Amino acid sequence: MSQQKSVLLIIGGGIAAYKSLELIRLLSKGGVKTRAILTEAGSQFVTPLSVSALTGEKVFGDLFSLTDEAEMGHIELSRSADLVVVAPATADLMAKMANGHANDLASTTLMATDTEVLIAPAMNVRMWDHPATQRNLATLKQDGVRVVGPDEGDMACGEFGPGRLSEPAVIADQIFSYFTQKAGPLAGKSFLVTAGPTHEPIDPVRYIANRSSGKQGYAIAAELSKLGADVTLISGPTRLDAPAGVTRVEVESATDMLLATERALPVDGAVFAAAVADWRVANQADQKIKKQSGGDLPDLALAENPDILATISNHAEKRPSLVVGFAAETQTVIENAQKKLAKKACDWIVANDVSPETGTFGGDQNRVHLISKTGVEDWPLQSKADVAKNLAQRIADHFGE
Ligand code: PMT
Repeated sequence: MSQQKSVLLIIGGGIAAYKSLELIRLLSKGGVKTRAILTEAGSQFVTPLSVSALTGEKVFGDLFSLTDEAEMGHIELSRSADLVVVAPATADLMAKMANGHANDLASTTLMATDTEVLIAPAMNVRMWDHPATQRNLATLKQDGVRVVGPDEGDMACGEFGPGRLSEPAVIADQIFSYFTQKAGPLAGKSFLVTAGPTHEPIDPVRYIANRSSGKQGYAIAAELSKLGADVTLISGPTRLDAPAGVTRVEVESATDMLLATERALPVDGAVFAAAVADWRVANQADQKIKKQSGGDLPDLALAENPDILATISNHAEKRPSLVVGFAAETQTVIENAQKKLAKKACDWIVANDVSPETGTFGGDQNRVHLISKTGVEDWPLQSKADVAKNLAQRIADHFGE
């Protein structure tokens, strides 16, 4: 790491709080400076003195301390670090974060920060599995909070399952990789990537979808992030975990995806790998459509979805300087893709054959053609990870020119 990085560590109240001491030690060994906030509950498990001895800094704990506010106000504290880490993140801290509470120094700092946040949850397995915690987790992920763990195993309370704080070395590694990611050729550049299918509701329980797994788009998001870019991944429903270091926004329909994409602007570059449904159901039912006894079929009317790629390519104020589309074709792949390049006004288009025998949709390999206004490059059949790596490198070269 070129210049010393710093972490603001918020230590929540849980039996795993003692592991935060080891985390501070590992961070310090790796050249990362730590400043800590010890919650009131956290101070039942570790003492301010031990935290301060390891950080070499004053430990903050009380929102209403006039001395603390005079030395460093909570707003300043919230922005004093390159990354905010919550470890252990208890069920209570996660609930506060997800619901925007600000009634102590830890929650106020988390509300006031404009720095990225990584949480390492730790709690009893039943608390972890509770729908409220899972709801809060989903909200936090949607808000762009990074999550490490929890691990599965024997717990201090005698139960077994997910809920154990990740090992300090694993949390430290995530922190180091976050900092090193931000140092590649795309450091300082921001990207949005769309991935996965969209689900277009018919009624509350049924939808129209397609076979996209999200693998290609997720791999591109991961590779751009590895090259240092700040990446927002706008994802339709998939089974994939968010790549490390990437902010994922989960959406369902094409309309949601367009909104999330517009919200992610401005960015330097955008890659549209999602398989967006071209149509949605115009007469979407509020209640589950009943099967008719006489065999009558429901009357589904389709409406055209907005074209996200074309909308962003033609954006008057916030067009990214590089817009890369994909073209999923089953015949005359290159010609059709070239037409899409012109029609959708993007800079490059990555054409792939999605005929069922290619296994492109859902599979792990892809044969693509990179098409720009100046020519066509045929890439060999390779893993989607390698397509992503090569495409990310081309993007980095483009920005480096
Ligand atoms: O997800 P995987 O299983 O890994 O599969 C990868 C993939 C085959 C989905 C991917 O490689 C791919 O080809 N993605 C684009 C799929 C697609 O919808 O292609 P299209 O030719 O219909 O659309 C052309 C471009 O317009 C695409 O960039 C698409 O994201 C975009 N589009 C399309 C319709 C729409 N309403 N809005 C859009 O933004």
